[in-house]
Amino acid sequence: MAIDHRKLRSRDWFGKNDRWGMAHRAWLRAEGFSSQVFEGKPVIGICNSWSELNNCNAHLRQVADAVKRGVWQAGGFPLEFPTISLGEMLMKPTTMLFRNLMAMDVEECIRAYPLDGVVLLCGCDKTTPAQLMGAASADVPALMVPGGPMLRGMWRGTEVGSGTDIRRFWDEVRAGRMTEEEWCEVESCVSRSAGHCTVMGTASTMASVAEALGMTLTGAALIPAVDARRYAQAEESGRRIVGMVNEDLRPSRIMTAEALENAIRALMAIGGSTNAIVHLVAIAGRLGLDLPLEKFDEISRTTPVIADVKPSGRFLMEDLFNAGGLPAVMKEIAPLLRSEALTATGKTMGENVARAGCFNRQVVRTLDQPLKPEGGLAILRGNLAPHGAVIKQSASSPHLLKHRGRAVVFENNEDLLARVDDPNLKVDESSVLVLKNAGPKGAPGMPEWGHLPIPAKLLKAGVKDMVRLSDARISGTSFGTIVVHVSPEAATGGPLAIVREGDEIELDVHARRLELRVPEAEIKQRLAAWQPPAPHYTRGYGKLFLEHILQAHEGCDFDFLRGKNGSDPLKRFRNPGL
Ligand code: FES
Repeated sequence: MAIDHRKLRSRDWFGKNDRWGMAHRAWLRAEGFSSQVFEGKPVIGICNSWSELNNCNAHLRQVADAVKRGVWQAGGFPLEFPTISLGEMLMKPTTMLFRNLMAMDVEECIRAYPLDGVVLLCGCDKTTPAQLMGAASADVPALMVPGGPMLRGMWRGTEVGSGTDIRRFWDEVRAGRMTEEEWCEVESCVSRSAGHCTVMGTASTMASVAEALGMTLTGAALIPAVDARRYAQAEESGRRIVGMVNEDLRPSRIMTAEALENAIRALMAIGGSTNAIVHLVAIAGRLGLDLPLEKFDEISRTTPVIADVKPSGRFLMEDLFNAGGLPAVMKEIAPLLRSEALTATGKTMGENVARAGCFNRQVVRTLDQPLKPEGGLAILRGNLAPHGAVIKQSASSPHLLKHRGRAVVFENNEDLLARVDDPNLKVDESSVLVLKNAGPKGAPGMPEWGHLPIPAKLLKAGVKDMVRLSDARISGTSFGTIVVHVSPEAATGGPLAIVREGDEIELDVHARRLELRVPEAEIKQRLAAWQPPAPHYTRGYGKLFLEHILQAHEGCDFDFLRGKNGSDPLKRFRNPGL
């Protein structure tokens, strides 16, 4: 399907000799471009989430320069533009509060400007799904260039994986086994360059998911941020997007139901982040595709974890890249893939990975000898989560996957922080720690508060894990037996809201069950007496968020952003006439 160059979107702005055509060219020539750039070249937007407030994406201006080289080489006209950037570390209360805002920014910039194609530069956790959601809705040919992971952390000769090992060290500090001096030393060793976190956290997961969806060039997801090959690959992406415009290869032709299935397969095989479930459901919603949580569970049950990377396994992203990267994983799970799915390369996923090699079988295992027999994530249901909940079983303690315990309840995050280390807290290692009001509306923004700290007195006694439960999310770098995304959330009157101290909770991951063992009549009585909390925002973006945010099982998108666009609403404004 080749596009007629006379029909490029950008010709509506630059292709006419009337007053507005002249004005559009003249004003852009203020940047020093000659008239040649307007002679039928496809205009390629480079959608950049660079920001000095977001260290993970701090190198993306250089990546953009490499993309531009490629676009010029292929006969396109590159124009870089910024959007908001979501930096996981510094942005409060949580980047998830702003993922949809960034997706709207991306979508509306692509639609409102004279772009024929777009290259999406992402890195930190939410920047990737936000760009995929925005690109899906705008549906202009789009290719993603992930920023890649940072250099591995090293402390006193020991590897330090971002997030995952920091959590371990912090528990050591709280248990009195690590000194303050050692803790300060770690600070200087853990983040050694630009790029995203070094474990299979949400950023690495979402870059891998983007590649498995077919939205990047083959092998793009995991090239380290500072590796020369990152820039060569960006240049190649610049060349390829021009070809995609010529082929009219739009996100809606790539991100199909088959591609989503491939992305979920990859997610399970790499032991990826629970956050990917929320993001993939949101992306599917933008494409008008139904993606129930059961699909994740179905695929999880038939996909072993084969990538031995933290937090489920031993190695870091650089090791996975050196072992062959995502193509090595995809090649190994090829018998399980929808190999016919079309990708940004113009070829099918099967063709892309047919010749991929694996160079380290310790890091990428075979299907016959996997790290874990089932996929990393499981979907739970029961009277405590009628619309579902999620657990990362690959990073849980096997002995806790079937467990009954008494609830120790925290009404919200402040309550948790105030009491969790209280020596008088009535808790033992069989307890189930419950956090309420940490969901999409309750927190708000569904922060990564689900990794509830183990009470200090238990840590000191040597307890390493216990069952924890909330309507929050967890970081992809988290580990432990942690149930999250409980839906409906407590703040909307879900059953989580009425759990009381001492109630018995039953978790059975194999049976996919999560139950509150309280008589049904008592549950009904408590629910009838429940009162909603006061809204966190009464104005601005926060108010919009609270009024339109969907629940976790629906992808936490805004209700008005789901579904395909009809005709381009800006078309009638492009040629206002003389
Ligand atoms: Fe950006 Fe971890 S803080 S990826």
